[in-house]
Amino acid sequence: MPTLKVIDRDGQEHDVPARSGVKIMETLRELDYGIAAICGGMCSCATCHVYVDPTWASKIPAPMSDERELLQELAHYKDGSRLSCQIDMTDALDGLRVTIAPDE
Ligand code: FES
Repeated sequence: MPTLKVIDRDGQEHDVPARSGVKIMETLRELDYGIAAICGGMCSCATCHVYVDPTWASKIPAPMSDERELLQELAHYKDGSRLSCQIDMTDALDGLRVTIAPDE
């Protein structure tokens, strides 16, 4: 099972076992310090916003236009911003490091 490195909103880093074949959001929303993911992955709420570590950005497929448009509306949008409901966890992403974005 691959590991996700998650930095919470207090700056603490956690090693979290992540299931392959499901969205990263599914793992993050089970954590006490995780995300709300209110829309359940429909790419409409942005409560699953994370920042992907720059060393990993090129290993993840680029966002589709609907994700990109939603991200760009966010107050805390910056380089590395992604919606975790749009990223598939795979064994190749073992060690992927993401930071949970502040609440909007
Ligand atoms: S869970 Fe709502 S946009 Fe990702």
